[in-house]
Amino acid sequence: MRIVLLGAPGSGKGTQAKLLVERYRIPQISTGDLLRAAVSTGTALGQQAKAAMDSGQLVPDEIVLGMIRERLSLPDADNGFILDGFPRNLSQAEALDRMLEEMGRPLDGVLLIDVDFDILMQRLSGRLTCESCGAVFNSYTKPPRHDGVCDMCGGNLHHRADDNEETISNRLRVYEAQTKPVAGYYESRGALQTVDGEGEIGRIFDSVVASAERLLEGAKTRAAAAP
Ligand code: AP5
Repeated sequence: MRIVLLGAPGSGKGTQAKLLVERYRIPQISTGDLLRAAVSTGTALGQQAKAAMDSGQLVPDEIVLGMIRERLSLPDADNGFILDGFPRNLSQAEALDRMLEEMGRPLDGVLLIDVDFDILMQRLSGRLTCESCGAVFNSYTKPPRHDGVCDMCGGNLHHRADDNEETISNRLRVYEAQTKPVAGYYESRGALQTVDGEGEIGRIFDSVVASAERLLEGAKTRAAAAP
């Protein structure tokens, strides 16, 4: 399975991607996580990315594309992958097509997680992430059993630096202007499924799995029809 999870900040891409990893045993490749790791280790690339991330703007394409190419070349991506947060504009989508064509591994399709904008702000301002294992909680919608402590590994929970009101508003504006058109790009070739991302996480996951399976079937049909 080679799919993209598309959706606004806070729509649940990371939450659903982690469940897909458990189900299908393929890696989650999150450009946000890769960039945050580069920022925290202080690499030159991380230093270049930091200002854009802090303000909620997109990091320049050449940085993100280099990172994705390197990550997709690792052996664990041979049997499939879930791209989370990439592509994020039309030029990244076109570059991804070229990259996967060169690798002989075309995308099965894209899953758009649709959530009302009013809900996103609350989800993001309440998000808590484990510093050790990356598990995600929410002080409003999915609180940990003990304040500030991860249920899974006992690690510390923290708020992401870009989950403040001003940066969230910028991220939502950037999504509307630059990332939303990516859905149309895939829809026009019959490779988009939309899932309602509001409600219980497990129920959404059932829809995500059903939609991902439809994308796989569609990709097989397109491949069989190709000359
Ligand atoms: P990135 O890390 O990708 O952040 P994002 O797209 O803003 O998405 P989030 O991680 O905030 O949300 P999510 O959809 O994963 O939601 P989650 O599952 O955590 O990007 C960060 C920055 O990096 C960007 O601003 C940009 O600067 C840069 N960047 C990244 N990729 C780039 C690229 N390709 N090009 C250029 N720049 C790039 O859920 C959110 C919260 O809601 C959690 O607390 C969760 O528990 C809760 N929740 C989830 N589902 C539900 C539900 N059904 N009901 C109730 N609560 C729920």
